[in-house]
Amino acid sequence: MGDIEERKRDHISLCLDLGDEAEFSEKTTWLEHVELIHNALPELNLDEISLEANLLGRRFKYPILIEGMTGGTREAYEINRSLAEAAERLNLPMEVGSQRAGIENPALVETYRVAREAAPHCFLIGNLSGVELASRGFHYAEKAVEMIEADALAIHLNALQEVIQPEGSTTFRGVLRAIREVCEKLGIPVVVKEVGFGISREVAEKLAGVGVKVIDVAGSGGTNWARIEGERVKGIDTVKARIAELYLNWGIPTAASVLEVSGISGLEVIASGGIRNGLQAAKVIALGADFIGIARPLLRPALMGPENVEKMVMRIVEELKAAMFLTGSRTIVELKKCKYILSGPLYEWALQRVWKTSRVRR
Ligand SMILES: Cc1cc2nc3c(=O)[nH]c(=O)nc-3n(C[C@H](O)[C@H](O)[C@H](O)COP(=O)(O)O)c2cc1C
Repeated sequence: MGDIEERKRDHISLCLDLGDEAEFSEKTTWLEHVELIHNALPELNLDEISLEANLLGRRFKYPILIEGMTGGTREAYEINRSLAEAAERLNLPMEVGSQRAGIENPALVETYRVAREAAPHCFLIGNLSGVELASRGFHYAEKAVEMIEADALAIHLNALQEVIQPEGSTTFRGVLRAIREVCEKLGIPVVVKEVGFGISREVAEKLAGVGVKVIDVAGSGGTNWARIEGERVKGIDTVKARIAELYLNWGIPTAASVLEVSGISGLEVIASGGIRNGLQAAKVIALGADFIGIARPLLRPALMGPENVEKMVMRIVEELKAAMFLTGSRTIVELKKCKYILSGPLYEWALQRVWKTSRVRR
């Protein structure tokens, strides 16, 4: 088994074995510091509420993206198939995991390709790392798109993960230039995302400036790669294991990252990282996100079959609908205008980073 294949298997099994995020990190999404204002007189019926939302010019029934997780191992084949079947039935956009393994080993292509076969009409998003793109060149992006007939390409930025990974690549010089080239030449929209440490306004503005259309914040408070990679280096590399421990609480919490990156002209925002229920989904949309993304909670259901993925998504849909009802929001556009109160560290963050520097408080 190749190195990448083994790493992908480790990631899946560690993600399945690790308990709730709160068990291993003090860092949260900070969504507990957002209070939506209850509307006792919504003047609408629950069944009138529409969750339809736009992303990249496409209309979806729900504002939910199945985030990229895997590809490149046997298990990944089943996971991507389940996720894709659910995505096709529910009309959800879906992203695959990093496609490097498939580009380097044609025998693994089917573990990604299965997503397109199971979901011929799905808005499917390819995935590559920024570092990989910078070192391998534009043809990697073309291969990733071709592999799954992607409708968009996500480029992930994962600096902390690369620092801790024994096989990590930390040559981040040239990543922005590589992203610019992809935006100019690929012919389909480019999404840039973190993997669990969030994206700041400065970074989002640079990315918007080179032609990126969507930022997926993947903020901290959800799947924690310091923890996962830390497990992998335990007993092998004491320095990296120590770094993993030290940076367990690193990153921009999802709520703060959404505040940072929303409102930049020409940029749509996906809020991911620790979104575990529909009330959290409603909060990030009120903070400015256009869409939400979910990864780790869908992993186990995916192994149990597409109907389990659908069940999990529909639970979140119903919870989100309840929040819309209770705030008197008939549509996602109305939910975006919903009033909220910020408290604690998120209020401090907004004061120092958001309201102070740029936008008028709503
Ligand atoms: C098992 C697993 C594998 C992942 N692999 C990738 C990947 O290959 N590429 C990527 O961009 N993000 C990857 N991610 C990150 C997710 O797409 C997502 O941004 C992040 O996990 C935050 O969402 P969550 O808290 O709902 O899991 C992975 C996440 C999980 C759980």
